Amino acid sequence: MKPKEDAYGQEMWACYKGREVFEIVERDDGYIDTSTHGPKIYFSEYEDWYPFEKRAVGFVKGRVLDIGCGAGRHSLYLQKKGFDVVGIDNSPLAINVCKSRGLRNAKIMSIEDIDFKQNSFDTIIMMGNNFGLFGSFKKARRLLKKFHKVTSESALIVAETLDPYKTDNPFHLEYQRINKERGRMSGQVRIRIRFQKYVGRWFDYLLVSKDEMKEILKGTGWKVKEFIDSEDAQYIAIIGKVI
Ligand SMILES: C[S@@+](CC[C@H](N)C(=O)[O-])C[C@H]1O[C@@H](n2cnc3c(N)ncnc32)[C@H](O)[C@@H]1O
Repeated sequence: MKPKEDAYGQEMWACYKGREVFEIVERDDGYIDTSTHGPKIYFSEYEDWYPFEKRAVGFVKGRVLDIGCGAGRHSLYLQKKGFDVVGIDNSPLAINVCKSRGLRNAKIMSIEDIDFKQNSFDTIIMMGNNFGLFGSFKKARRLLKKFHKVTSESALIVAETLDPYKTDNPFHLEYQRINKERGRMSGQVRIRIRFQKYVGRWFDYLLVSKDEMKEILKGTGWKVKEFIDSEDAQYIAIIGKVI
């Protein structure tokens, strides 16, 4: 990633330095989503997490891989609890933030390039809607098969997403309709992050319903063990290996 493309990292770095920052997410239909909530959440402490996140983190065991770790809130919490944690993120500055905050094992790595030895992890976490990093139905299945190899026999994936159908926003509903016409999943959103003059690359982020998630997992060696609901459209899946 070129430095001028690291909009996510710049946003996190600015927040780390105590500046008031916005998160700006641009979708490829021109829809702009902004929040001040976003960047702050990446630095939130366990006490401030939603009950469904706290419950999900309770499933974590053994050696942990945190994919798209951001500013490292989950990795740092787990490291403090004594877990052996590796945080990866494709944003060099986000990894810088993690290291500055004390995360011992933080690597610049994209989800697509995950290349660890067999049986390296007991839990993979994909928090902050990061099931989305699977990008598409096809890519999700390819990566899930790869995750199967790098994890132990009784490994878990703890993954957060958002049910795209739980909305009445007409712009989202229209986007979902066009997605379907193009043969994409309804909740496959093509987005990029902007911060000041930094513009991230376009990438696909996948939001799925519970049934869609189950369909993606079929034949990958993984299945949903439990869903943990929030009070909103977000939910977390506890995914285990098919025995
Ligand atoms: C919504 S934030 C979530 C951060 C963190 N998991 C949390 O809950 O606080 C998404 C993170 O995923 C990272 N990311 C985006 N694309 C990625 C990719 N292809 N591989 C790894 N990380 C990626 C971003 O840089 C960002 O830090």
